[in-house]
Amino acid sequence: MAVPPNPSHNDRLPIKTVAAAAWFRQTSGNFQSARTESMKSVPKQQLPDFLRGLPKAELHIHIEGSLEPELIFALAQRNGVTLPYDSVEALRAAYAFSDLQSFLDIYYAGASVLLHEADFFDMAWAYFLRAQADNVIHAELFFDPQTHTARGVAFDTVINGLRRACEKAEAELGIHAGLILCFLRHLSEAEAFETLAQARPHLGKFIGVGLDSSERGHPPEKFARVFADARALGLRVVAHAGEEGPPEYIWSALDVLKAERIDHGVQAVNDPMLMQRLAAERIPLTVCPLSNVKLCVFKDMKDHSLRQLLDAGLVVTINSDDPAYFGGYINQNFLETFAALDLDASHAVTLARNSFEASFVDEAQKRRYFDTLDAYCA
Ligand code: HPA
Ligand code: ZN
Repeated sequence: MAVPPNPSHNDRLPIKTVAAAAWFRQTSGNFQSARTESMKSVPKQQLPDFLRGLPKAELHIHIEGSLEPELIFALAQRNGVTLPYDSVEALRAAYAFSDLQSFLDIYYAGASVLLHEADFFDMAWAYFLRAQADNVIHAELFFDPQTHTARGVAFDTVINGLRRACEKAEAELGIHAGLILCFLRHLSEAEAFETLAQARPHLGKFIGVGLDSSERGHPPEKFARVFADARALGLRVVAHAGEEGPPEYIWSALDVLKAERIDHGVQAVNDPMLMQRLAAERIPLTVCPLSNVKLCVFKDMKDHSLRQLLDAGLVVTINSDDPAYFGGYINQNFLETFAALDLDASHAVTLARNSFEASFVDEAQKRRYFDTLDAYCA
């Protein structure tokens, strides 16, 4: 446990670290130690069902990455868009990736079928139905407006369709949902500023900003001024960093962009100082194990750094990233990761608890989520 054990040690830590540690002690109560430890006794054969039923938050899902090939074809037909694939099977067969860029090329092509507000609604609603089946009770969805505005689709069309699905999910499925606007980092700072300007009339409809797309060669610093403006507007801040890129990108996401969570962050294991900082400040990592294997960040799930990150006391969460492309939704990520890394039910409870701690909700809502988790474990 990287949280400082006594107050005297706190004297030597930065204010943010002391605050994070104090908050953790205050809100954890007996839950973390007693309840989590007792979960170790859940028999191995019951673990898959325990993982499926676990209440959880999903914090790293690109909604355009939830477009299943069947829906891509249905929307293409509805909108008269011609696809460079003959069938659903042919499209699915193209999902063999060698790195992040090889995936992004297909991912942006898939999004070309989205034209009308109803298309964005249908896409997000399909995700929420899948999320409910996996016992996701809170979801923060990334969306990539520039992928759509570049094709002449209005920003309003995108956000209004997504927002309507979020409201329906809340009303009918009991899933609390928020949207995070991602800037495409392979595009320019000027284009990101333009997108932020388009988003300004819609400030009440999304909770924060993020940074995604091609990581290598596009360090967080490129967007320092855009993120400063977003923060001044009261938006929460996250950033993809340390997926394929070096640990230095995680440092600058924290120090330059002031990111509150790091998306992926799996390269942090290569930097002991960074590991210490992430643990001490309780900066969450939204890890996406199936994505990392599919994009060859790790050769095999057995090589994944998730367990090292978790054992070092980092606030790790498990997420699906682009579930339609990477072989499964959040529960599939839990199941395959737990099988490969020999994790038990106590790890599952820690991961679920981390997901609620890392979510952008107020303290009262966090406590309600912790209570839901506690009741599940009782
Ligand atoms: N990384 C970066 N950008 C992305 C991803 C990802 O995994 N998915 C969709 N956009
Ligand atoms: Zn991602």
